[in-house]
Amino acid sequence: MTREGSYHVQSIGSNVEIEIKRLQAQVELFWPNELKHYREFGLSDGMSVVELGAGPGFMIDKIAERFPRCQLTALEVDPLLVEYAKNYLTQKNRQDCRVIQGSIMATGLAENSFDFALIRMVLEHLPDIEGAIREVLRILKPGGKAVFVDNDFEMHIMTYPHIPELRELYDAYCQARSNEGGSPKIGRELPVLLKKGGFSRVDFDVVSAHSDIVGDEMFFRSEGIGIPSKLVTEGYLSSKTLGKISVGWRNMVKNKDHAIIRQIYLAAGEKKR
Ligand SMILES: C[S@@+](CC[C@H](N)C(=O)[O-])C[C@H]1O[C@@H](n2cnc3c(N)ncnc32)[C@H](O)[C@@H]1O
Repeated sequence: MTREGSYHVQSIGSNVEIEIKRLQAQVELFWPNELKHYREFGLSDGMSVVELGAGPGFMIDKIAERFPRCQLTALEVDPLLVEYAKNYLTQKNRQDCRVIQGSIMATGLAENSFDFALIRMVLEHLPDIEGAIREVLRILKPGGKAVFVDNDFEMHIMTYPHIPELRELYDAYCQARSNEGGSPKIGRELPVLLKKGGFSRVDFDVVSAHSDIVGDEMFFRSEGIGIPSKLVTEGYLSSKTLGKISVGWRNMVKNKDHAIIRQIYLAAGEKKR
C-alpha cells in the first residue's frame, strides 16, 4: 500500500495528538465557508460520498451531520488514522459511515460508484498527482463531482501588523515538503491538473478565514508550534527566526486592530456523462 509522500501524521509535527488536534482545528477554521462551496459544487443529501485521505474523520463527520441521508465512505492510508477515525465516528454515532484503509492511488473501490468525492489537503502531499486524479475519476459515477482542496504556501497566513519572518517559515515548510515529494504550492495548479486529468466543467475558488470573523483562537489552534519546531529540528529553519516569529506573533495579537487571514484553494470537476 502506497505510503509515500510528504504527510505522515507521526512525523510531520512534534507529537501525534497535537497534530490530530491541529487537523481538527483546520476543519473547524474553514468549515462554514467550505460548506457553501461544497453545496455550490453539487453536494446534496442522499448522495454516495467518498472522502479520500480522510485522516482522523473530522470532515466526514461534518458532512454526516449536514447531509444525514448520504452514504459515506472515508478512505485513509495510515492505519493509526483509520483506527482514530473509526473510534471518533463511533463516538459520534456515525456507525453508518464506512471507514476503510487504502491508498488514493489504488483505492480498490468499484468503478462508477460515487456521486461526490472530496480530496482535502491530500494532493499537495502526493508524488504522483496525475495518478491520484485518475483514480478519483475512475470511482466517480458519470456526472459525479469531485472537489480537491489544497494549500498554496506562497499565500499562507498573513497578518496585520505584518510579520516578515513568516515568509521564511513558509519557505522552509515548502522546502521540507518538496524534498519529501510533495507540492506545497499546488493550489494555483488545481484547475489545470483537473482538466488534464479528464475532468469537465472545472471550477475554482478560494476559501478564506479571517480572525475578525472566526476569532484568534481558531488560528492559534489550527497553526500551533508542532510543525515549525520540527522544521527547526530538521535544519530547515533557524531557531532564531522561529524566536522572532513567536515575538512578532505575540506583539501582533496585542495590537487592537490586528488581523490574521488564511486561504485554501478549491477546484471542482465533473466526470463526463
Ligand atoms: C493533511 S491530512 C488531511 C486529512 C483530511 N482530509 C482533512 O482535511 O482533515 C492528509 C491526509 O492524507 C492521507 N494520505 C496521504 N497519502 C495518502 C494516500 N496515498 N492515500 C490515502 N490517504 C493518504 C494522510 O495519511 C492524511 O490523513
